Amino acid sequence: MTKSPLLPSILLVGCGKMGGAMLEGWLAHGLAPSVIMDRHLPELPAPHRVVRTLDAIPAEFKPDVILLAVKPQKANGVLAELAPRFPNATLLSVMAGRTIASLLKAYRVGHAAASPIIIRSMPNTPSALGAGMSGLYAPPEASEKQKKQCEQLLSAVGETVWVAQEGLIDSVAAISGSGPAYVFLLAELLEQAGVEQGLDAKTARTLARGTIYGAGQMLHQLPTDAAELRRNVTSPGGTTEAALKVLMASDAWPQAVSTAISAAVNRAKELAS
Ligand SMILES: NC(=O)c1ccc[n+]([C@@H]2O[C@H](COP(=O)([O-])OP(=O)(O)OC[C@H]3O[C@@H](n4cnc5c(N)ncnc54)[C@H](OP(=O)(O)O)[C@@H]3O)[C@@H](O)[C@H]2O)c1
Repeated sequence: MTKSPLLPSILLVGCGKMGGAMLEGWLAHGLAPSVIMDRHLPELPAPHRVVRTLDAIPAEFKPDVILLAVKPQKANGVLAELAPRFPNATLLSVMAGRTIASLLKAYRVGHAAASPIIIRSMPNTPSALGAGMSGLYAPPEASEKQKKQCEQLLSAVGETVWVAQEGLIDSVAAISGSGPAYVFLLAELLEQAGVEQGLDAKTARTLARGTIYGAGQMLHQLPTDAAELRRNVTSPGGTTEAALKVLMASDAWPQAVSTAISAAVNRAKELAS
């Protein structure tokens, strides 16, 4: 892999599934000396440092970006603790549903005059393999430098798109943040159906995974619309058409996917309140 220039230095707060996925990608790309605050992560090789609490962060450490990757409902305490130490920080939140206003309010509990710039992003776990998909939103007061640093971090682990309104981050969360889970579910269901049709479990698993990989590669590498790729596999009167008639019935996948995405967006809005 070609090494891109050194990424900005970060204080990563919370290194679980999502923080850990991004960290793997950043370490592979060359991250400026950074501090990771997490209760469980083992030590990392120098120049990076893992700490369990804020007090253990070296006094001289001034991160370019503080990345918030704890569970949304666990963030308030740590935000209030960060504020006196980093009152004017660039904060990049990957937390689902937490609005800039709610994060700022929690920050100011720790330091009433704190004035951080808060940029929101919604990455996904394929970031661990450099195949992430992230949406970003920056408020108008964010500088070009702050936006660039946040984008650099996320584009080091995959593709990025900017959205023009903060509310659209909930839509990004529902499509690409949670999206890998929908694809994994499809893999599970294809495997199960293969076994029902007489294949042994190992063969069904290989077929399901290989197919999703191959179709993903076609979507990634070809400019063709998904609908046209689908039509290209569908001969009139053939087997694919028989299956798609079931899946594409208006009360089947079209309705299920639309209802599922609405449920995810609504949940993100509930988390915000
Ligand atoms: N998972 C995804 O696919 C995904 C996708 C997009 C965005 N996100 C967002 O990413 C955020 C993190 O999700 P996750 O699934 O990665 O959660 P997670 O696996 O629970 O990771 C959070 C980590 O932070 C640690 N932590 C929490 N508070 C801490 C503190 N004050 N000091 C030190 N360590 C602390 C947690 O330890 P404890 O377990 O001991 O609390 C845990 O190790 C969420 O806000 C979520 O909305 C996740």
